[in-house]
Amino acid sequence: MKMKMKKLLAAMLACAMLASFAACSSSEDKPAADNKPAETTEKTEDKKEETKKDDTTAAELPAIGVTIYKYDDNFMTYTRKAMENAAKDVAVLNLNDSQNDQTKQLEQIDVLINQGVKALIINLVDPSNAPVVAEKAKAANIPVVFVNKEYPEGTDKIDYDKCVYVGTTSEESGIIQGQLILDAWNANKETWDKNGDGKLQYVMLMGEVGHPDAEARTKYSIQTLNDNGVETQELANQSATWDTAKAKDLMDTWLVKFPTEIEAVICNNDGMAMGAIESLKGAGYFADGKYMPVFGVDALPEALDLIEAGEMAGTVLNDPLNQGKACVELAANYAAGKDPLEGTSWKLDETKAVRVPYQAITIDNLDVAREAYGN
Ligand code: GAL
Ligand code: CA
Repeated sequence: MKMKMKKLLAAMLACAMLASFAACSSSEDKPAADNKPAETTEKTEDKKEETKKDDTTAAELPAIGVTIYKYDDNFMTYTRKAMENAAKDVAVLNLNDSQNDQTKQLEQIDVLINQGVKALIINLVDPSNAPVVAEKAKAANIPVVFVNKEYPEGTDKIDYDKCVYVGTTSEESGIIQGQLILDAWNANKETWDKNGDGKLQYVMLMGEVGHPDAEARTKYSIQTLNDNGVETQELANQSATWDTAKAKDLMDTWLVKFPTEIEAVICNNDGMAMGAIESLKGAGYFADGKYMPVFGVDALPEALDLIEAGEMAGTVLNDPLNQGKACVELAANYAAGKDPLEGTSWKLDETKAVRVPYQAITIDNLDVAREAYGN
């Protein structure tokens, strides 16, 4: 807190000294507006002058073009904030909200390239579009760091040497989630196995179809249970595209269709788990001894509060801080014409990907997740 205040004061002082209002109000705490072109780039660079770490002049801070698949995604909002923090004194980010529209995103990338950004950080709308983006970047000789949505065939299969991926190992989140469900099922079987058939009857809320995280979480959560001797029966499985409101609607429907049969709700992310819990609460759950185990992925602060309140059974930390940091560090290196890994602790695997690990989160280690989300 103290540090924050100090930083804030220093920034204000720097702004006053430069007497540049535009610079003060430009980027620090506010997310950049949708589609905002890089015209403000030079102004925002000025304010960095007082705080820069090395002896490059502030005017030399490289411009990095960023597209986020949609700002209206809670996990990506935390990742975007982590990018902005990591970029301080390192690069000027030109952020764009692609509003879940791949055509719009490709146009934004054209604009960024024309503006002469030195590197791109791309959170694709549709992961299968990675080669199309790489082709544009290659033609302009601009390096690309893909983040969060991985090209399903592997980044190493893209025909461009200056492109890498920053994210996670998707399977890992499914395996960890499956392990969490397994442990909880084994500890609570007597009450959770409502129909006493020894099998786990579940409903699955899936993220976007075709998204490597959604596909792998759906598959490996169940496979982990089955491999460890828990038989399962899927009552329903549908995509709610990571979205809380859509998940609530689906859960409402399922609670009507399967009023007593559901023994667990498995969600590809916390956003959807939050929707499911809202629906369950509406149906009288989490009161008077009526309980339903709900599992998610991400470890959003909101989900941690639900776990603390006994309304969510567990989640898997998807670390926004380190993913945001890694993509900025790699892109800044690229922008400076260096090897993307130079001076960093990140490693690329054989598919040209930096993989930040997931971690199981229960009531016992909420603080680990709180830290990764910066509170
Ligand atoms: C996943 C995350 C989801 C959603 C998605 C967007 O990694 O768990 O909550 O943000 O990325 O691509
Ligand atoms: Ca059962």
